[in-house]
Amino acid sequence: MTQRVAILISGGGSNMAALADAMVGDFPARPVLVLSNEPAAGGLAKAAARGIATGLVHHRDYATREAFEADLAAALDAAAPDIICHAGFMRILTASHVARYAGRMLNIHPSLLPKYKGLHTHRRALAAGETEHGCTVHLVTPALDDGPILGQATVPVLPDDTEERLAARVLAQEHILYPAVLRRFVEGCADPLLLQSTRTG
Ligand code: GRF
Repeated sequence: MTQRVAILISGGGSNMAALADAMVGDFPARPVLVLSNEPAAGGLAKAAARGIATGLVHHRDYATREAFEADLAAALDAAAPDIICHAGFMRILTASHVARYAGRMLNIHPSLLPKYKGLHTHRRALAAGETEHGCTVHLVTPALDDGPILGQATVPVLPDDTEERLAARVLAQEHILYPAVLRRFVEGCADPLLLQSTRTG
């Protein structure tokens, strides 16, 4: 049965677009909602251009995290998703919200977890002198960037890399990894997907 996927964004939504553009043909899932906490998120227009329903729950409209999450959950549940994909969603969620969707909430993080949880991952990897870096898709658990790993893609780090060049190299792999992991997740494949890119562009 075709799975219903809600995608949460806070920014440009390139990962959302990659997921949405992959969910065609015999892909066993379809996007049913793109939801943002940020009214300025460019991904909302990308979703609308694809004919995907969009929603906005602006976190600044709420005095507490709990009140924000109550409306976030209501907006999500109205779309009856089977799976929730965080794709550049930049809000920390409480354990009770995560528990509501336990086992069916995915996230993509721009590092080879468990290395470099949190922010500024490319800058930190360069500063540490890493020779490889990459991205991870994992199940969301209450601990930040810490859930079971569903897939990873690695890229080389070049000696003269800048944060921007490395980020772009990783982002290109995110757009390959996330749709591939989502398909395997829907199809019940438990083995983590490991991709290795040698691209140096
Ligand atoms: C990506 O690098 C993702 O790994 C991180 O935030 C960025 C989102 O980019 N969580 P986009 O909004 O998908 O273009």
